[in-house]
Amino acid sequence: MNAGAAFDADALVAAAREARERAYVPYSRFQVGAALAAEGEVFAAPNIENASYPLSVCAERNAVAVAVAAGHRRLDAVAVVGSGERGITPPCGGCRQVLFEFGGPELVVIVESLAGDVRETYRLDDLLPAAFGPRDLLP
Ligand code: THU
Repeated sequence: MNAGAAFDADALVAAAREARERAYVPYSRFQVGAALAAEGEVFAAPNIENASYPLSVCAERNAVAVAVAAGHRRLDAVAVVGSGERGITPPCGGCRQVLFEFGGPELVVIVESLAGDVRETYRLDDLLPAAFGPRDLLP
């Protein structure tokens, strides 16, 4: 689906960091930024929380909405930068599923610590093995 797709990992992480600054997180105070590479373009968003807590939306899913709203349905990579000086913020389970819809098993997932001292790179099928996706529905 996206094998061999070109993207600049450093630029993607930088876009995630920039989006993170715009997080609306009055409840958790946990800022997250996500940036997606889609067909040569970059789409980024932060997490946006709500006073009705379950309606809060993660950065990754907001970024997917931005990319798809711009007309892209094939994602090549995502970068995520969360909070906490120590450790990385891997995408939550729900976001993995939403990323799979448009990225498939080969989506590259880059997670970097806020301090910038840890960067891990996965394929989405490392994080979401045996995924349920569009091809598993009835014909
Ligand atoms: N969050 C994300 O935006 N992405 C993740 O992958 C993990 C969690 C957000 C949701 C909530 O606004 C805050 O981080 C704390 O869970």
